[in-house]
Amino acid sequence: MPSLYDPIIHLLFLVSIGLVTAAVLSFRIASYVYLPDSIPWVGCQKELFSKLRANIREQKQGLELLDEGYNTYSKDGKPFITPNVTLRPEILLPLSQSSWLFKQPDDILSARAVQSSILAANYVVPRQTLESDLHVEVARIALTQQPAHGRRVRLAIDEIPGSDAGDWTDVNLSRAMLAIIMRSNARVFVRLPLCRDKTYLTLAYRHSMAIAICASIIRVLVPNVLKPIFGPIFALPCRWYAWRCNRYLIPIIKSRCVKIQLSKTDEAAPIDLLQHIISAAYSSPSESYRSPYIISASSAMVNIAAIHNTRITIVHALLDLLSYHPPATSPSPLEYIHGEASAVLASHNNIWTRASVAQLHRADSAIRESLRYSTMGGRSSMRQIMPDSGVQLPSGETVPQGVWVGLPTGAIHHDAAFYPEPDAYRPFRFSDERAKLLAESSSSDGQKALEASRFAMTATSHAFLPFSHGRHACPGRFYAAQLLKLLLAELVLRYDLRELEERPKNRVISDLTVPPWEVSIWVRRRSNGKEKEEAEGER
Ligand code: HEM
Ligand SMILES: *[C@@H]1O[C@H](CO)[C@@H](O)[C@H](O)[C@H]1NC(C)=O
Ligand SMILES: *[C@@H]1O[C@H](CO)[C@@H](O)[C@H](O)[C@H]1NC(C)=O
Repeated sequence: MPSLYDPIIHLLFLVSIGLVTAAVLSFRIASYVYLPDSIPWVGCQKELFSKLRANIREQKQGLELLDEGYNTYSKDGKPFITPNVTLRPEILLPLSQSSWLFKQPDDILSARAVQSSILAANYVVPRQTLESDLHVEVARIALTQQPAHGRRVRLAIDEIPGSDAGDWTDVNLSRAMLAIIMRSNARVFVRLPLCRDKTYLTLAYRHSMAIAICASIIRVLVPNVLKPIFGPIFALPCRWYAWRCNRYLIPIIKSRCVKIQLSKTDEAAPIDLLQHIISAAYSSPSESYRSPYIISASSAMVNIAAIHNTRITIVHALLDLLSYHPPATSPSPLEYIHGEASAVLASHNNIWTRASVAQLHRADSAIRESLRYSTMGGRSSMRQIMPDSGVQLPSGETVPQGVWVGLPTGAIHHDAAFYPEPDAYRPFRFSDERAKLLAESSSSDGQKALEASRFAMTATSHAFLPFSHGRHACPGRFYAAQLLKLLLAELVLRYDLRELEERPKNRVISDLTVPPWEVSIWVRRRSNGKEKEEAEGER
């Protein structure tokens, strides 16, 4: 048998990797010579290829560099440049310029251009999907038009595997949360029968993963000049999953479109997100957005936005809660959340409604505190400079077209000017503030109540940016907040959760902080635990 090993092919392979790397580097280095010299860099040392090496080191030092930049420059009202392992440095503005940032129109600073680049939208989804904005409209509607769905969340939680026995069992935290979130979302996104179809749900999830993974490969590894050739090739997995999902979705979309055209809407059928996307497409001036393929791809966009951030948020929140050890004699934070949840539920006939979920101030506070304390992205609110001639910052420097500007979110969230004891995790810091204000207010004092709502998880501000702020702030946050509060409340009502000795370490890559995916927690079903009735009324 001749050996399969061929040194020549091996060599060619190495050479081509080398070529690609050289091409990537040269294109990327060229792209940052245009950054204004008047803006200082963080992380550059006196060495050969200092900027390139700073970019590479950024993978490990991202957060330290951001803290350094924040303390040295932001606090002084100056912008700074941070290296980025993707070899595309970004400019971070001081807080004194954040009002300016959020006020700029989209043709000056564009959020869409940033998203489109992150998602490699030209390659992984049909053209016009992002610009149609259908996914944004719909995320906003997701909550306001939907009831609380407490039963759905409860049933999803009851399916935590292995938890039937009544003994302590260990469950894979991140996997369990993913399953609960997907199951809870399913009915909101598409109505029966599709929302019960496990094959379809799995495909939809894989499609969203494929988009995320292929997009990063195309964006980071393929140089711009080669994108028209390699973009579509690397996007093939997305096409494959889109094709498989479309075999389920397109017939449904087509039949619903026909009904709209005949003005024969099905009054009795509950409205799902897919229907909202279709309606939005039909009320948009551009007829091309009515293509079933764009409608289907928009639903994939909502899926991506709705699953991953939500899951990371709840896993961070649970890890923070379970590893928080209050001073001796104080009850654990989970006991407080449990007490609040049972009290709220008891005063609402044991039914979750939007109004009753809104009263879960402690659950709300704990999640908000984790969004602050374990900030997912050290940099955020990124906007791309659009005008050919660049844009002049309020501090005078002119930044060229194509560069990204944003805010050092993580450092802002840990600034004592906004949060006393910023490096302490205090689950009820916001609900305590809220309770204080509400206690001061009399029933006629609407002002105080309004002020108190500033401490809610969904309230964004210049110093609270997990959802960004301003016009492009996450439109799905109201839905996410309701789902996660319900999830947390139902979880502690139905299970005992064992505390963790210490907080499992997060994974930090560049400026991204994600929880460790492999952690298991110990749970035991409470005696009142299991919802016996079947999923009635789940249409
Ligand atoms: C806790 C969970 C979530 C977090 C932390 C989060 C965070 C964010 C952030 C940081 C942005 C970018 C804002 C900007 O660039 O200024 C965003 C945008 C967006 N999010 Fe969320 N999100 C969450 C859940 C959701 C959910 C559940 C949905 C859908 C139902 C959703 C839909 C969207 C959409 C459509 C956009 C684009 C908005 C636009 O371009 O104007 N998100 N989200
Ligand atoms: C910088 O790095 C982060 C995380 O690694 C990435 O999400 C972001 O898109 C990068 N920025 C640019 C301009 O490539
Ligand atoms: C837990 O689930 C995650 C996926 O969510 C997986 O990556 C990890 O390997 C799982 N851990 C264990 C111990 O099964």
